[in-house]
Amino acid sequence: MAPDPSTLPRHIGIIMDGNGRWAKKRGLERTEGHKQGAKVFRDIATYCSELGIEAVTFYAFSTENWRRPEKEVHAIMDIFRDFLAELEQREAENEEMGFRIRFIGDKSRLPADIVSLLDITESRSAEKKRTTVNVAVNYGGRQEIVHAARLLAQQAVDGTISVDQITESLFSRYTYTGDLPDPDVIIRPSGEMRLSNFLTWQSAYSELWFSDVLWPDFTRKDLDQMLSDFAKRNRRFGGV
Ligand code: IPE
Ligand code: IPE
Ligand code: MG
Repeated sequence: MAPDPSTLPRHIGIIMDGNGRWAKKRGLERTEGHKQGAKVFRDIATYCSELGIEAVTFYAFSTENWRRPEKEVHAIMDIFRDFLAELEQREAENEEMGFRIRFIGDKSRLPADIVSLLDITESRSAEKKRTTVNVAVNYGGRQEIVHAARLLAQQAVDGTISVDQITESLFSRYTYTGDLPDPDVIIRPSGEMRLSNFLTWQSAYSELWFSDVLWPDFTRKDLDQMLSDFAKRNRRFGGV
């Protein structure tokens, strides 16, 4: 059933988890799960854009995911390369992508060729206004907070701002999602019930929605279910 537009969240966060278990269940390499997960990402991002959601932030690779075996990290980087190359190809064929894509996280540790592909993809879609799709790559909520704190500290040292000008709203503007509303809801599939360093600052009042479905099996119907559950939540923000 189509969701009622007046109850839609403005910003959704999605932790794309369960790729490895999905592959294992099928006797496949974990990499195959990541490949399928990337397909689901495209479909759900497109669906959010069709629904007119203002912003969606997908967690693709965390600052902690470097702890995985080198082979898996390499395979994930190759999937990013293929994904970015495919986007470029579609753009060349004039296929409308419908959403603005941005990459959030610490790009400095990523391979240089990936960083330039990320930059090209971002600037090509910059004019699209309908939905902002953030992809969190080498992202960690704590890293983001430290990053924002450093930017503000530098400004204070330079005398551009005074220390008492540092407020919650100014701090928010220095996070990677500074021009977007905080996520109204964060989705975590795969049965885990934790945030794993995702949107640590922004999730202070986010609704949390968990599902046992593994990300590569996640469908538009699951998103509809989340939207219908979300519409029934009573958000009080500390009030009555
Ligand atoms: C999420 O799936 C993708 C990344 C963290 C890169 P996982 O790879 O964590 O899948 P599981 O949790 O092992 O099933
Ligand atoms: C969180 O999943 C990171 C991403 C989905 C990118 P993990 O699979 O890395 O989280 P943990 O280790 O189970 O907390
Ligand atoms: Mg996982």
